[in-house]
Amino acid sequence: MSQAVEKTPVVEMRNIKKNFGAVQALRGVDLALFHNEVLGLVGDNAAGKSTLMKVLSGAYVPDDGEIYIEGEPVHFSSPMHARRMGIEMVYQDYALANNLDVSANVFMGREVVRINLGPIGVLDYQYMEQETRNLMDRLKIDIPSVRQKVERLSGGQRQAVAIARATAFDAKVIIMDEPTAALSVAAIDKVLELVDQLKAHGASIILISHRLEDVYRVSDRMIVLRHGRKVCDTVVEGDIQEFRERVVAYMIGARDDFAEREAS
Ligand SMILES: Nc1ncnc2c1ncn2[C@@H]1O[C@H](COP(=O)(O)OP(=O)(O)O)[C@@H](O)[C@H]1O
Ligand SMILES: [Mg+2]
Repeated sequence: MSQAVEKTPVVEMRNIKKNFGAVQALRGVDLALFHNEVLGLVGDNAAGKSTLMKVLSGAYVPDDGEIYIEGEPVHFSSPMHARRMGIEMVYQDYALANNLDVSANVFMGREVVRINLGPIGVLDYQYMEQETRNLMDRLKIDIPSVRQKVERLSGGQRQAVAIARATAFDAKVIIMDEPTAALSVAAIDKVLELVDQLKAHGASIILISHRLEDVYRVSDRMIVLRHGRKVCDTVVEGDIQEFRERVVAYMIGARDDFAEREAS
């Protein structure tokens, strides 16, 4: 008989709690993300999905619970801190600077300096543009030019740039919060292809989406949150119709795999 190998998750969150005043946004959530896995995170509005991911990406400090990166406990004090540990979050509203070009957006906050004369740094635009071009090619993102201002790109292209930026610096974990919410059907397809590309390049991804067919298409496993609790944690399998019915049952509270543990 072969011994089961316990793999260390790339990210593990244990018993995460977060209150906003009287609102218990997270009531003790566990989450594990494994290497090269796409994890879907679903649940109704206000279930706690964004809050959980903001805790993981350093935007919120949890009231209770632990976070481990590759088995090591971490306490993120800021998004920069989480980013240095390889956790990147793509926000719902892209968070791009519309008046800057694609390359400047990709390198925003981590510009490459060519010459450093004390306080005066000269940015290496050529290098940053070439790197951005390579990145866009690698991820098969179609934009006219890396010198194009972001405000002149389509919604789908902007989302692609936001995702590319999150992945540009060897992120271990990429979190996407509703990346397809504001997009056309064709653009949604592109974003899902991008998720597949990132996975093919070895990333581990958490995808929040209310579009269950998107989660079904790209995720290996999914977690359902309801009222700040995890109610389901399962591999994505079966046909789409069965999947949808199962997820909805968890979302509306007709099924709950962790209810007993909660009660005890
Ligand atoms: N910054 C905040 N201040 C106060 N309440 C918040 C804040 N962020 C989220 N909440 C509340 O926490 C709950 C979970 O919200 P959220 O994590 O955004 O849910 P989801 O992303 O699943 O829709 C909701 O009741 C929401 O109103
Ligand atoms: Mg949300």
